[in-house]
Amino acid sequence: MFKLISGKAIAQKRQENLRLEVENLNANGVTPSLRVVLVGNSGPSEIYVRNKARRAKELGLDFNLIRFDETVSEKELIEFIDSLNHDKTVDAILVQLPLPQHINEEKVVQTVSPNKDVDGFSPINFGYLWQNNPNIIPSTAGGIMTLLEESDITTTAKHVVIVGRSNIVGRPLGALMLNSDATVTMAHSKTKDLKSITKQADILISAVGKAHFITADMVKKGATVIDVGMNRDENDRLVGDVDFDDVSSVAGAMTPVPGGVGPMTILTLMEQTIEIAKKRV
Ligand code: GUN
Repeated sequence: MFKLISGKAIAQKRQENLRLEVENLNANGVTPSLRVVLVGNSGPSEIYVRNKARRAKELGLDFNLIRFDETVSEKELIEFIDSLNHDKTVDAILVQLPLPQHINEEKVVQTVSPNKDVDGFSPINFGYLWQNNPNIIPSTAGGIMTLLEESDITTTAKHVVIVGRSNIVGRPLGALMLNSDATVTMAHSKTKDLKSITKQADILISAVGKAHFITADMVKKGATVIDVGMNRDENDRLVGDVDFDDVSSVAGAMTPVPGGVGPMTILTLMEQTIEIAKKRV
C-alpha cells in the first residue's frame, strides 16, 4: 500500500510540544534567541529565511534577521559573527548559505561558535556527528531522521542510498544513517550506473537539485523515497528531484514537495535552538 509522508503534518504535531517547551523556558526567564545572517537577496535563500522567521515567531522565539549587502567584505562578515558569538543574549546563529563568491564559506562556517552553531556545520560538530556522538546536527538531515521515525520506517540493516554529497545534506545524512545502523551508499555526480545502485535502495534519498531526476525505473518496488530537492520545473512550479507521478507507481512511501522535507528542516532548527537555550536555565 502506498503511503504519502506528510512532513507538514509531522512538523505541526511536534511544534505543539515545542510551544510548551518555550513556555517552560519563559517561566524560567529565558526566551530562546536565533540570529539568521543573510548576505545578498537570492530567491531561494529569501524563501528559506522567510519560512524560518515565520516559524520562529509562531513559537515566540527571539528572532532577528541580519542582512548584509552582497558586496560585504569577508572581514566585516566575520567580525559581525564574532560579535554574535560573544553576545550572551544570543543562543543560536545561522549563516544562510550559499554566500557570494568573494567570501570563503569555510572560513565563515568555522567562525560560528560550535556552541551556537545551530546548523551543525562547524568542523567540531561535524566531527562529533561522524564519531557517533552527535551534538548539534544539520537540520535537513536531522529532520529526515525524525520524519522516518515518526512514520515508523526503521533504518536498522536497511540499505539506504543517498544521492548527493553536499555538506548541507548528503554527508551529514550519511553519518546519521550509519549511526542508526543502516548500510549506506553515497552516490554523486561521478557515480557510474546510478540506476543499478538506486534500484537496490530500501530507502532512497535524493538531494541533487534537478527536477525529474529520479524516475520509476530507478526505484525498487515498495521502497521509501525521500525528496530533498527544491527546484522550479519548466512551468515555474516548485518541484523536488523525484518525478512524483512516475515514482509513486512503484514506491511504498514518498515525501511530497512542497510539504515533505522542508517543514522538517525548519522544525529541527527550532528544536535545536530551544535545546541550546535550555543550557541557560
Ligand atoms: N541553504 C540551504 N539549506 C540550508 C541550511 O540548512 N542552512 C543554511 N545555513 N543554509 C542553507
